[in-house]
Parts: sequence; structure tokens; C-alpha cells
Amino acid sequence: MAEVQFLGKLLGRIDRIDRASLLNYIRDLTAENESLKNVLDCLAAGVLVMDIAGKVKYLSRGAKSILGLSHSTTLRNKSSIYDLIKDEELRRFLLEHVCFGDYVFQYEIEILLPHHLYLSVSISPLEGANSPSRDYAVLLEDVTLSREHDRKMREIQKLDVLTRLAGGIAHEIGNPLNSIGIHLKLLERELASADPATQKKCMELLEVLQSESRRLDRLVKNFLKATRRKFATFKTESINEVIDAAVELMKPELKSAGIRVELKQASDIPRFLADSEKMKQVFINLIKNAIDAMPKGGSLEIGSEKRDSVCVLTFRDQGTGINERDLPHIFEAYYTTKKEGAGLGLMIVSGIIHEHGGKIEVQSKVGKGTVFKIYLPMRREKLQLPEKFEKG
Ligand SMILES: Nc1ncnc2c1ncn2[C@@H]1O[C@H](COP(=O)(O)OP(=O)(O)O)[C@@H](O)[C@H]1O
Ligand SMILES: [Mg+2]
Repeated sequence: MAEVQFLGKLLGRIDRIDRASLLNYIRDLTAENESLKNVLDCLAAGVLVMDIAGKVKYLSRGAKSILGLSHSTTLRNKSSIYDLIKDEELRRFLLEHVCFGDYVFQYEIEILLPHHLYLSVSISPLEGANSPSRDYAVLLEDVTLSREHDRKMREIQKLDVLTRLAGGIAHEIGNPLNSIGIHLKLLERELASADPATQKKCMELLEVLQSESRRLDRLVKNFLKATRRKFATFKTESINEVIDAAVELMKPELKSAGIRVELKQASDIPRFLADSEKMKQVFINLIKNAIDAMPKGGSLEIGSEKRDSVCVLTFRDQGTGINERDLPHIFEAYYTTKKEGAGLGLMIVSGIIHEHGGKIEVQSKVGKGTVFKIYLPMRREKLQLPEKFEKG
């Protein structure tokens, strides 16, 4: 605003200003204008200034990128925003609101062209524009990521409620199931004194009942184990040592499956806050899945590296891979493609990684293998200063 007032004063006295001072003023104003444009170009959000007819007066780098225009696009004198916008929804939205001189604040629309995005659009008529055609500033922000984040949070909350509900039911099923088990045992004992023909016939039926009741019992126990919320206890740990412990534990299974483990651990990873028991559970689950995926043996590469303040762990197998249809679901509860699978392993894995503030990604090629990547922030305990520093 101060600049506008200054410019007004300058224009009022222009015939009294000597040429050299005038040139200086113009040079300063041009430099300031350039630097403001540079600032606007640094914003990820797009800034667009247009008049009521749609003529573009300014388009920041962010706006060009959102609209799918190359950065080198130059605006011709009569470039109309309505020719530049490819998406019909956005074009209609701007046309309607600019036409009525509306103020719009962070209105969210979904566009399909040039890419599928959720855009937050703000429109404000520019006050004090001295041309008869009013100008408008339009702010375009890509909010796709935060929308996605919100959706994920809602999903997690929903899953949490469902898990607790199902946990309650599973617990309740446990008691009658126990009693059924005991009574089946009693029945077995009673049958021992029955005549051989009845005994043979009934024993077959009894075995089916016992095996089914054992299966139910396993299901309930697995479910309760997977959903029991034990809070993580964080200690300063060496992640490489935790990996080593998991590999050591799985050695017999790996050996009998004919799987070589290639450890590629970086030596410069500092100790950081982690729950070693839970992380071991993560590694065991990933190793177990790799074993299942390589029935004919192969190699499993386990790597760790430091990227700035993040520790990246890689589990790369040469197994069957995961097809596109299954890939989006593998972290869901009970999603399994295995005959005897519980489908809870990766749900537990992703829960633990999230508890550590990290994330897990998967890439897979059918017939080639699968790579799981875990990103863990290397959080430290607050450093304790020696007493003399604290006091002094
Ligand atoms: N390393 C892997 N290679 C191929 N498929 C995998 C791998 N890890 C996980 N999967 C797929 O993800 C599914 C879910 O895994 P998980 O949650 O551990 O349950 P489960 O192992 O009991 O099936 C598996 O059934 C399998 O289809
Ligand atoms: Mg598994």
C-alpha cells in the first residue's frame, strides 16, 4: 500500500522531477517489481491476475504448473485465461464468480485436466485497480495431498473403532470356545467305553469338531494378538543390531527354505529412538513373507542407509511378486492370498512403523520380486547438558 501511495505522489510531481532522479525511481520500481515476481514464483500455490473479461495480466510459475503450461509459456497481449484452462469445471467456476465480482475463499474443486487434482481456489477483486475493467487475483492451491491425508486419518479412525468392537467380540467368543474344547475332551473320554462300532463312527465326527474348534481358537488368538494395543516403549537402539537379531532368529527357517540373506547395512547410522521388540516383529514379518514368496529359494537383500535425518530400510526379495489387483490391499486386515495365511502380518507391520512416525512403501513385479522400503525418522532423546552448562 505504501508503494501505491508513493507512486501516486511521484506521478503528481512528475513534471517537477529531474530526469536523473526519475530514471532512478523507475530503476528501483522495476527491480522491486522483478523481486516481487520472483517471490510469487517461489510459491507452490499459483497466483493469477486477470481482468473481468478473462485477460491474463500475470501468471506465476506455480499457476502455470497447475494449469499444465510450460514454465516458458509467455503471455500474449490478449491471452485469455479461459483459453489456457483445460478443465471445464475450473473454467466454469472462474467465469461464474469473476463475472459477479464475488469474493471466494478457499473453495475446493476437483479438476481432471491436465491432471486429477483437488484445487483450493480463492478469488478476490483487487481493490484500487484504476482501470475501468476490474482486476482479480486468483489463488490456486493443490490440496490433493492433504485431502489424501484426511481420508487416511478417517480410515484409521474407522479401523480403530471396528478393531475395538471386533476385539470385544473375539474376547467373548474365547470363553464358550474354551468350554466347547473341554466338553469335546470329556466326550472323547466317554466314548472310550462305548462299543467299537459306535466308537469308530463317533470318533471321526469328534475329530472334525475338535479340529474346527482348534481352528476357531487359533483365529481368535491371532486376532487378539494382532489387535492388542501394547504401547511402544522407545529406547535409543541400533537398528542394525535389531535387524541382525531378527535374521538370527529366522536363520533355521531361511536355511531350510534355501534363502540367502544379503545384508547391506550402512555403518554410519546413529542409534535412535525405537521399540526394539516391535521393530523385530516388523522384520520377522517381512522375512516370513519373503520366505513364503520364494518357495524355490533365492536371495533376500536387507539394507539400511542414512538419508539426512531418516533411516531407510530395504527388504528386496526375488519371489513371486504381488499383482496389481492385490497390491493396494496387502496392508489391510485379513487380506491374504495364502491358503493358511492370517492376513494380519502387514497390518501389524504398518501399525508399528506408524507408531515410530515412519512410513512403509512397496514396489513389486510379478515373477521378479518385491521391495519393501521403510522410512524411519531418527529421533533422539533430548540431550542432557552437563550440570555446569545447565546452571551457567
Ligand atoms: N514379499 C512378498 N512377496 C509377495 N507377496 C507378498 C509379500 N509380502 C506380502 N505379500 C502379499 O501380501 C499379503 C498379505 O501379507 P500379510 O499381511 O503378511 O498376511 P499373510 O502373510 O498372512 O498372507 C500376502 O498374502 C501376499 O499376497
Ligand atoms: Mg505374513
